[in-house]
Amino acid sequence: MRILIKDGTVVTASDTFAADVWIDGGKIVGLTHPSQRGAHGLQTADQTVDATGQYVIPGGIDAHTHMELPFGGTTASDDFDTGTVAAAHGGTTTIVDFAIQSKNSSMRAGLDAWFAKAEGKAAIDYGFHMIMTEASPAALEDMAAMVREGVTSFKMFMAYPGVFLVDDQQIFRAMLRAGELGALITMHAEIGLPIDVLVQRALAAGHTAPIYHALTRPEAAEATGTERALALAEMAGVPVYMVHLSAQRALERVMEARDRGLPAYAETCPQYLFCTEDDLRGDPPGQGQGEWKGAGYVCTPPLRPRHHHDHLWRGLRNYDLQVVATDHCPFCMKDQKELGRGDFSKIPNGMPGVETRLYLLWEGVVAGKISLNRFVEITSTAPAKIFGMYGKKGTLAVGADADIVIWDPKREKVLGKDTLHMRVDYSPFEGRKVPASPSHVFSRGELIVQSDQWVARQRQGRGQFLRRSTFGL
Ligand code: URP
Ligand code: ZN
Ligand code: ZN
Repeated sequence: MRILIKDGTVVTASDTFAADVWIDGGKIVGLTHPSQRGAHGLQTADQTVDATGQYVIPGGIDAHTHMELPFGGTTASDDFDTGTVAAAHGGTTTIVDFAIQSKNSSMRAGLDAWFAKAEGKAAIDYGFHMIMTEASPAALEDMAAMVREGVTSFKMFMAYPGVFLVDDQQIFRAMLRAGELGALITMHAEIGLPIDVLVQRALAAGHTAPIYHALTRPEAAEATGTERALALAEMAGVPVYMVHLSAQRALERVMEARDRGLPAYAETCPQYLFCTEDDLRGDPPGQGQGEWKGAGYVCTPPLRPRHHHDHLWRGLRNYDLQVVATDHCPFCMKDQKELGRGDFSKIPNGMPGVETRLYLLWEGVVAGKISLNRFVEITSTAPAKIFGMYGKKGTLAVGADADIVIWDPKREKVLGKDTLHMRVDYSPFEGRKVPASPSHVFSRGELIVQSDQWVARQRQGRGQFLRRSTFGL
């Protein structure tokens, strides 16, 4: 079936131009000037979509999601069905989710469990990173097999003692192995052991409210972890990617490393660009949900004071930050965040976001903080390049998968739990009016979302596993 998207303005990471986009067999087969319609052997289409006045952009790639993640005594509330459908509604057509190696279990078992969660469920294409909770000889062996299967990036944690935390020697061993295999290590770089002491002291002093989540995870803990991770990568002679970078000083560490010519990469997330530490304080006493409302904003690293926003936006503009991913890890206020009433350290860490990333970042375009092309780059092209998907995903070019969003700059939307599709009972952005939204979303040439409706025949299981290439930048 041949599809024509006509009269739109195509935007890639590098160019903006008027073009018709021709799709056949799930791929882009032509990008032609509208005045040339009928030439190039591309005369007729089975389906034509008019994109006049709209931008035609590559489908978003969210390189950091946690569908159905068991965490904090509960499980993230979106599975691969609901989470990927929500992603698609917001203009994201690919996710890279984190499979986990549970403590005292093999990486292989962890990855197999993630295949089982996603297969037959995911509605858009998906890849996996692998979370390593050890770097034993067996785990280092498993890394090779996983890279061959297209799982070419691994996450390690300096945070969460007793759950995910690994020591520097294990990180270093995994980095050396990644270097041999062409894989990429991604790092959660808050130093968890001193944080735990701060948490215990806060609780002992009777500080139990959500705001103490931020007050016990200071910026210094992320900055020093970032510096350490960068030094380990430098010693190993490998690239490194910092996940969910939240703060000025951590960013400065990345900038210094990049200025020294090191292959250091970093992502931030919309919550660190749009929310602040004050959100963790909740409603004023006696109003709304009171301080408990802050539980909906508990994520790790924590939200920071407002002045960090400017630094992160500048980092995005100046290429010191390469990617905006979401760290989508939703927990419902009822029953899930509730686990931490009376003890902030038991509030499951994470926020919903896979659906709202493009809506929010567009505000940055409208405000002149980033260009249209940079918007495409940080939401799609850069993650495709860093994580071995480029060419197939992340751009609009002949031969690429037809993962395409028709982005209507005049199609306003009010964000809220009832207008969004994530399976969670609140929105951190309830009532926020955003200026633009997708009118059409295509995944491998199939129209899947139109005017806020899921329109593809199939939903569960139409997404395909993406075998990603090794690190090639
Ligand atoms: O709060 C967060 N970020 N939850 C997910 C786990 C992680 O550290 O990415
Ligand atoms: Zn993390
Ligand atoms: Zn995460």
